Amino acid sequence: MCGIVGAVAQRNIVSVLIEGLRRLEYRGYDSCGVAVLDARGPTRARSVERVADLEGQVRDGNLEGVTGIAHTRWATHGAPVTDNAHPIFSRDALALVHNGIIENYEGLREMLRGKGYEFISQTDTEVIAHLIHSLYRGDLFAAVRAAVAQLHGAYAIAVLHKDQPHTVVGARQGSPLVVGLGEGENFLASDALALAGSTERFIFLEEGDVCELSLDGVRIADRQGEAAQREVRQVAAYGGAVELGPYRHFMQKEIFEQPRAITDTIAQTDAFDASIFGEGAGQVFADIDSLLILACGTSYYSGLTAKYWLESLARIPTQVEIASEYRYRESVPNPKSLVVVISQSGETADTLAALKHAQGLGHKHTLAICNVGTSAMVRQTELSFLTHAGREIGVASTKAFTTQLVALFTLAATLAKLRGRLNDEQEADYLKQLRHLPAALNSVLALEPQIIAWSEEFSRKEHALFLGRGMHYPIALEGALKLKEISYIHAEAYPAGELKHGPLALVTEAMPVVTVAPNDALLEKLKSNIQEVRARGGQLYVFADADTKIVNGEGLHVIRMPEHYGLLSPILHVVPLQLLAYHTACARGTDVDKPRNLAKSVTVE
Ligand code: M6R
Repeated sequence: MCGIVGAVAQRNIVSVLIEGLRRLEYRGYDSCGVAVLDARGPTRARSVERVADLEGQVRDGNLEGVTGIAHTRWATHGAPVTDNAHPIFSRDALALVHNGIIENYEGLREMLRGKGYEFISQTDTEVIAHLIHSLYRGDLFAAVRAAVAQLHGAYAIAVLHKDQPHTVVGARQGSPLVVGLGEGENFLASDALALAGSTERFIFLEEGDVCELSLDGVRIADRQGEAAQREVRQVAAYGGAVELGPYRHFMQKEIFEQPRAITDTIAQTDAFDASIFGEGAGQVFADIDSLLILACGTSYYSGLTAKYWLESLARIPTQVEIASEYRYRESVPNPKSLVVVISQSGETADTLAALKHAQGLGHKHTLAICNVGTSAMVRQTELSFLTHAGREIGVASTKAFTTQLVALFTLAATLAKLRGRLNDEQEADYLKQLRHLPAALNSVLALEPQIIAWSEEFSRKEHALFLGRGMHYPIALEGALKLKEISYIHAEAYPAGELKHGPLALVTEAMPVVTVAPNDALLEKLKSNIQEVRARGGQLYVFADADTKIVNGEGLHVIRMPEHYGLLSPILHVVPLQLLAYHTACARGTDVDKPRNLAKSVTVE
């Protein structure tokens, strides 16, 4: 999604800005741009192609400057055309980049038109540029503070003005923005990752903050306009760019990294001890009587899977809700409920807003399960558990999902132990299963050639159904999401028992029905559901545990999984579905790592 980079220095800063954009590219964008200040004012280059094209323009146009801002745009208001690409100018005096959505832009645009401002773009961003310009009286910091007070919605912005050649002003509300501190130079970015190589010292701005970067320092005002001191954090973890290695796509690489990612995630778990979730977790866990899980997309499906573990192992009532729904509905808060937010990025706007909404309703206990330790979600929750998936580049989440499942299983087992429902022997057994999981995953990954053979068939389909039961129903949902995200095949998932209540009407020879078939208590029921599909000429593609006795037959294609893996089985069963989606997308020739219309980190509503 949109990305911001800004810098004030004594050297030509263009390469730092371009490199920053390159580091944010994986998040998805459809245009990009850069602006620097020179003696005449801001000059810019913009492209509706990749950052590499922008770099070429910058080189050909000899764009140079010591103060600049840059942006990758993921279109919300207005098509991805050059006029809508950022930086957006106001009267050739001011340049601005913006992440987020301004909800009251129409009213502001009318007001600004009344003052004689001409609108060139279809963006909501242009109102911010003209608004700040209209309020500018020789102090950009003051003008930005006055302008943001009139904005409704979410924003992170970076602004420069021709009359202040060594100043970049930033502001944030609902979208992340960090300041990077250098020696005689300072930086701004929507993600610290963009500034790797330039600094390791960061200030993570808080909601409502406005900052002013100059050569020798940074000043920050809080929402009330008071000078604010913010903690400077050393973040060394942002190494170089992630290499693809022998893989064709990052998604494939990330699927195959899952054994390693899970090993890293469980490295901190010698016992199911509350302290894994942070200081004070033992007290919090003793206080709570239920869980409320909030998340989006794949992270939501990990929450749905966890509900089965939390309720069966720990016997703790668990509600799982899509964050974008929860934040806008009237719910009945329970202060004794632990709010668990799950997010790969920790910056998803809907999940962050749902967390704040829950806190506003009086939920005092919060836990983030997240892959990014410096993210807003981790900073805004009382407790946290970091998954150690490593950076996930592919838009379609894979290793983040399986490590979230590991984290959530650990939570369920920890709560079970605290509630007297897990004895020492069971604890040792679950720990052993967790440690064996990477090896078990490797044997599932070895099924890739068989899955490639199926994917050829799938690549010619336009629809697919996914079936699962019990805790494998969310795995079917995740399999369908993966397939539609990257292959653009329409896919839906159902609990297999629901088939005859409607979706069976869709089953014909042309409809592949992917079935997740673990050897669990629901196997016989699932076998009946399989027969319902066969009887109607449907084509079944079944991932069946070794001991299920489901075998190839007419209309029944089976890939044999390892032996049933008990409660942790969903973590194994999702992997062939990831591979099926991946190879089907490859066979269809889509842009696997950057599927159309999607972004890696959804920082707007
Ligand atoms: O960063 P998050 O985990 O909060 O992201 C949530 C969803 O946007 C994300 O899982 C999305 O559904 C993925 N593209 C799924 O592959």
